[in-house]
Amino acid sequence: MADQLLSAGPLLESLPESYVRPEEQRPRLHEVLSDANIPLVDLAHPDRACVVRSVAHACRNYGFFQIVNHGISVESMQRMLGVAREFFRLPAAEKMSHYSDDPAKKMRLSTSFNVRKETVRNWRDYLRLHCFPLEEYVPDWPPNPPLFKDIVSSYCTEVRQLGFRLQGLISESLGLEEDYIVKVMGEQEQHMAINYYPPCPAPDLTYGLPAHTDPNGLTILLQDPQVAGLQVLRDGRWIKVDPQPNALVVNIGDQIQALSNAEYKSVWHRAVVHLDRERMSVASFLAPCNTALISPPEKLTGGGGRGAVYRSFTYAEYYQKFWSRNLDQEHCLEQFKC
Ligand code: OGA
Ligand code: NI
Repeated sequence: MADQLLSAGPLLESLPESYVRPEEQRPRLHEVLSDANIPLVDLAHPDRACVVRSVAHACRNYGFFQIVNHGISVESMQRMLGVAREFFRLPAAEKMSHYSDDPAKKMRLSTSFNVRKETVRNWRDYLRLHCFPLEEYVPDWPPNPPLFKDIVSSYCTEVRQLGFRLQGLISESLGLEEDYIVKVMGEQEQHMAINYYPPCPAPDLTYGLPAHTDPNGLTILLQDPQVAGLQVLRDGRWIKVDPQPNALVVNIGDQIQALSNAEYKSVWHRAVVHLDRERMSVASFLAPCNTALISPPEKLTGGGGRGAVYRSFTYAEYYQKFWSRNLDQEHCLEQFKC
């Protein structure tokens, strides 16, 4: 129901019971590691082989990296975050007109993660948009703020190109042809989640987003440059991914984990919230087309290797499975193991 939107209600003095995690699931913020060298990759480095090696290292060991000199201008990133912030400042009634908790909707404002499935709420509102092809979806996007459609469409176009470039580097880093991933994924879907994490009266009892892996192929995250909140799991410890100036965060999704025959990992990550500061993030997801058949290349399974780790599946089958669950269960890919 629309009155569940955090950004449509008053600031709360205490955390409602419905958001409180049981003791053993709380974020234990004091145990989070501060700077554990999430790799930073300079995409403008003149030696491509060196970039490919850095991408390989990052994907194999972290599943996450930040990129700089990625071709999306600072102005474009600032405009995107700015209009996102303005959207969440619209009057409650106007925002509520976009509300839905049906994951099948191609444009919706919602809250938490999946209010139809979960038992504990998350301290997040989000606007989720389908973004490709733009001309099919933009007409249904919010008409306000007035520049929303223009700014978000331009950002989407830039991020899609960047995503393809990254998929080229990732393919090469696996020893495959540069266009391998792009070919397998077909006409890729593109979705966006504009996340708004309001100030929270008890950040140690709840999450913005609890631990999850992304079900898509590749995610490119534009973070609030001032407020950290993203954390990734590595060797059993949570690590902060502090925003770097003008950087974007990239992570491997479940589909590239499957396509790499589990050489690259779609890593658990989560977003935590703050007592006195709101945080914004804009996640762009590139995903295979629904009919794409996801199965590992022979180059990564044959030759005395470990054989296929997962059975073949279509993306449609995977996505349906993902949204039929709650977050923070086992890795969704576990259900596709050979
Ligand atoms: C996501 C996500 C992290 C963040 O939207 O899938 O992981 O920092 N977001 O908002
Ligand atoms: Ni995510």
